[in-house]
Amino acid sequence: MTQHDIAVRQGLPEEMQTLLREYPRDAWPDHPNFAGLIQRWMGAHTMFHQMAEIVTTDTKEMLDRKLDPDWYAMRLGHFGNALVRNLHGHHTWEDHKFFPELMDADNRFIDGLEILESDHEQMDQLLAELVRSSNRFIQLMDLSAKDAPDELPEVLKNAGAIQHFLQRHLSDEEDLAVPILLHHKLRG
Ligand SMILES: [Fe+2]
Ligand SMILES: [Fe+2]
Repeated sequence: MTQHDIAVRQGLPEEMQTLLREYPRDAWPDHPNFAGLIQRWMGAHTMFHQMAEIVTTDTKEMLDRKLDPDWYAMRLGHFGNALVRNLHGHHTWEDHKFFPELMDADNRFIDGLEILESDHEQMDQLLAELVRSSNRFIQLMDLSAKDAPDELPEVLKNAGAIQHFLQRHLSDEEDLAVPILLHHKLRG
């Protein structure tokens, strides 16, 4: 684990914040280069936070027996699947299209973008674990419903890890990418 690993990171490395100091987050919405495409990309991040929150809250309520198990299983399948599928698509696009575009625009921030790429690799593992535990719950609901609740702590642990990851990753990613986009008038 390095100092930039997401498990210990407190934000972007200092040297990756030079443009962020020039373009602080508060000033983004009023900047003339804050294009619709940037807003939609940030909107996707908000949606990921919301979907992860739904899975976590539902699972807590299920552990407290406040939800009907079939209803919970249906929502877990729906929101868990949507979260995983959308995040995979989002990361693939960032790795192959978006980050190379930012690296071409400003080579001072390549190290930061590489940190974000390695976050994506770690995220793949977290998503795979959520899929495994959620599928086990859903399958047990069909095969042996009385045993299904045994899987809930694992689902909650995995969903919580994803939420925690998203808070750090998405915030650092926006802090790095948006100032580059504004400064170089990209995606306008
Ligand atoms: Fe990302
Ligand atoms: Fe992203």
